[in-house]
Amino acid sequence: MRGIILAGGTATRLFPLTATTSKQLLPIYDRQMIFYPLNVLVKAGIKDILIIIAPEHSGHFLNLLGSIFDKNDIRLEFKVQKIPRGLADAFLIGENFIDGDNVTMILGDNIFEDDFSEAIKNFKSGGQVFAVKVPDPERSGVVQFDDKMKAVKIVEKPKEWLSDYIIPGLYIYDSRVVDVARQVKPSARGEIEITDLHNWYLERGELTVGLIKGKWLDAGTFDSLLEAGQYVKEKKLYEKFDPIINQAILEFNQELKNLAKKKL
Ligand code: G1P
Repeated sequence: MRGIILAGGTATRLFPLTATTSKQLLPIYDRQMIFYPLNVLVKAGIKDILIIIAPEHSGHFLNLLGSIFDKNDIRLEFKVQKIPRGLADAFLIGENFIDGDNVTMILGDNIFEDDFSEAIKNFKSGGQVFAVKVPDPERSGVVQFDDKMKAVKIVEKPKEWLSDYIIPGLYIYDSRVVDVARQVKPSARGEIEITDLHNWYLERGELTVGLIKGKWLDAGTFDSLLEAGQYVKEKKLYEKFDPIINQAILEFNQELKNLAKKKL
């Protein structure tokens, strides 16, 4: 299993914050946002992780993450996405990296309370996504269930109400996803939509949709950014991080302090 974090985009809704750095490097309480998706992958035992970034602030990602896993066997790779072309583009950018393996893709601004380690570790083939109930489903990819909670339909930002369940930014697919993404035609908003990938697997009866119990936050607006910080502090979500990440952050902080002292 390989991991991809999609951390591209210009995040215009967060201007001026994102004029000086990437959205995924903004703080969620005591650490940068990107540690949350990174934790999901590391906790699931994934060792090879590709981080897709926008060109503007790409150096910032290297400053933070370039050496963070030097003491263990997690390998980070970086690729630049020059123009945001839709979420499914991550599988095309990552084609060589995926190299015929299964892949878990997570959006760099998605924060999950649940632990997905078992789902990721137990994944065999097809597609596995997750559904969460939200008050504003029209902003996302919406999934409709039948009375046995079997997914029957998935629509990207439906105009008419379909269901309160949306599919947030965590996707597990088998290696066929690269070819499927290549076939997808851009939508009206000019993007190759992840929803088309879900539907490819759904039509073949190969998509599993798990239910999310805990909180899901996408920190894409001022309010959700603030809410995310407050929520993780209140629930101490950072204490549930994989020890590999917490240790790496601790050591990085110590290194920064030592360097600062030397400069005095
Ligand atoms: C994207 C996807 C949508 C998904 C959402 C999760 O929406 O297109 O299917 O539910 O991410 O965050 P976007 O943020 O591009 O509008």
